[in-house]
Amino acid sequence: MNPLLNKLQSYPFEKLAQLKQGVIARQDKSHIALFIGEPRHPTPGFIGEALIAHLGGLACYPVSRGIPELRSTIASWLARRFALPSTAIDPERHILPVNGTREALFSFAQCVIDATTKPLVLMPNPFYQIYEGATLLAGAEPGFLNATRETGYLPDFAAVPERLWARCQLLYLCSPANPTGAVLDAAAHARLLTLADRFGFIIASDECYSELYVDESAPPQGLLQTAYAMGNTDFEHCLVFHSLSKRSNAPGLRSGFVAGDARLLKNYLLYRTYHGCTLSLPVQHASVAAWRDETHVEANRASYRHKFKAVHAALHSVLDVEIPPAGFYLWPHTPLGDIEFTRRLYAEQNVTVLPGSFLSRDSAGINPGRNHVRMALVAPLEECVEAAERIKEFVQSL
Ligand SMILES: Cc1ncc(COP(=O)(O)O)c(C=O)c1O
Repeated sequence: MNPLLNKLQSYPFEKLAQLKQGVIARQDKSHIALFIGEPRHPTPGFIGEALIAHLGGLACYPVSRGIPELRSTIASWLARRFALPSTAIDPERHILPVNGTREALFSFAQCVIDATTKPLVLMPNPFYQIYEGATLLAGAEPGFLNATRETGYLPDFAAVPERLWARCQLLYLCSPANPTGAVLDAAAHARLLTLADRFGFIIASDECYSELYVDESAPPQGLLQTAYAMGNTDFEHCLVFHSLSKRSNAPGLRSGFVAGDARLLKNYLLYRTYHGCTLSLPVQHASVAAWRDETHVEANRASYRHKFKAVHAALHSVLDVEIPPAGFYLWPHTPLGDIEFTRRLYAEQNVTVLPGSFLSRDSAGINPGRNHVRMALVAPLEECVEAAERIKEFVQSL
């Protein structure tokens, strides 16, 4: 077996299942799951209709680059969404469709890391665990950048010494962040792009929550947007990862894309022709329909906004919790240790949240997930509010 497999930690949901083992939840209340970030709003009907209309495509092998119509639709979407000139994104050079961003965030590291030079991959802490697994299996060392209240829940880039930037081959960004919902602004991007230029590392910007923002007048900044504004019009060193899973409530479609640096994408396409991950033609056509429509995305944002407001209203008097600018998670401080909080909340209220320390690692003497839990507001409004009432009752009983 590949010895690097031994370095992988079990996934947060497995740790959670172990934590709950042997704990008996009260049975007079139904279970409410707030631990998993799986969108539960209905997938818009027109996406399924487009899929069905193209079922004939199952008779063909799809090619790794995706159909031109999908790439040009994505290029137009990027230009519209990130206020770029309509010709800024070249569908032939700047875009690759992927089977959801999870596999792409993983496989991209396998493609770009040169394991012969003691590589370092920097990432936020807490983080989406794929970044760490991808790093370890590519033979690199992960470097964790703490995101705490003191740093606005954004990675503490200022704390990274030059010798680490010099060893860094890849920097994962997550903006809006899972789990904190924090958003990087143009100034933060610009500083990182300057560092990437100077030290020659690649920035992989995971923007899969970019369409779920609270303030309609303030959509999160994208990395390509900042690069373009700085005159980096071929997006050197930067790639962004976008997904239909959260934006369009279609996690089962397995559809996203990577966009940016043409030279990197050329090599990544070569890698992917061997990797063998292609989107079936029906999925590609359904994706075209999804990227062309914004009405369902606006409705999606409105639903999350209502849930944030209602849950925050129920909880803020008992928990240290803020509505984040984006995403669908709350990241409250817990009055008990996060693991104890999770276990007891499950036992006493039959509500499951995710301990923050399952999403983070010890770094620079702290674990930034400790004493936090992640609550995903994916269930319908009434269920989220019911969960909030139970959490309030639980906290008041402590
Ligand atoms: C931060 C982050 N990135 C990427 C993904 C992967 O999403 P998908 O593979 O569905 O595009 C997720 C899923 O939960 C996520 O939370």
